[in-house]
Amino acid sequence: MDIQTYQAKIKRVLITKEEIDEKIKEAAKYIDAIYDGRPILLVSILKGSFVFLADICRAVTVPAEIGFMCAKSYYEGTDSSGVVNITMDLSQKLDGYHVVIIEDIVDTGRTLSDIVKLLSTRNPLSLRVVTLLDKPSRRVVDFKADYSLFTIPDHFVIGYGLDCAEYYRTLPYIAEYAEPTPQ
Ligand code: IMP
Ligand code: MG
Repeated sequence: MDIQTYQAKIKRVLITKEEIDEKIKEAAKYIDAIYDGRPILLVSILKGSFVFLADICRAVTVPAEIGFMCAKSYYEGTDSSGVVNITMDLSQKLDGYHVVIIEDIVDTGRTLSDIVKLLSTRNPLSLRVVTLLDKPSRRVVDFKADYSLFTIPDHFVIGYGLDCAEYYRTLPYIAEYAEPTPQ
């Protein structure tokens, strides 16, 4: 993709870096208050949550370990495949841990609903979900995160870890993606 096309597809900024920073502080306070000094395991769902994880893990003050899982539910473009594939699993056993799943966005709800079911079978001390974004209008399975930083309308969004066909994860803000116009 050339740079002009790349830039043209960033339709408009939806959430600025400053707005994200403010909400991160609030989310960290929520986590600190719940666990009250008890150690936690932050489980980042890759790849989309890697930027969010990096910011939230430096904002919490409770002792935290980090774990990574890779789940893929979107492939090329903006259509959901509807299939959740765990392509990389955690290295930790979960018994003995208060687990906080860190996710970029809850869309149809399939990914997190499946991940929560899977991790629950591993007997964590507790299990909660913190998501950066929530698109409740797109839900196809009944799923609610314990904490959501932003609720957004049904736009495909990019930036701050979120991609379209692997690009745009590196934007420091969240933007609306412009669908390509037919040539
Ligand atoms: P769900 O299973 O439909 O809830 O999809 C969740 C996953 O799809 C997220 O973790 C994202 O990786 C991806 N996704 C959903 N909506 C968007 C979006 O607007 N932009 C980029 N990725 C998205
Ligand atoms: Mg994701």
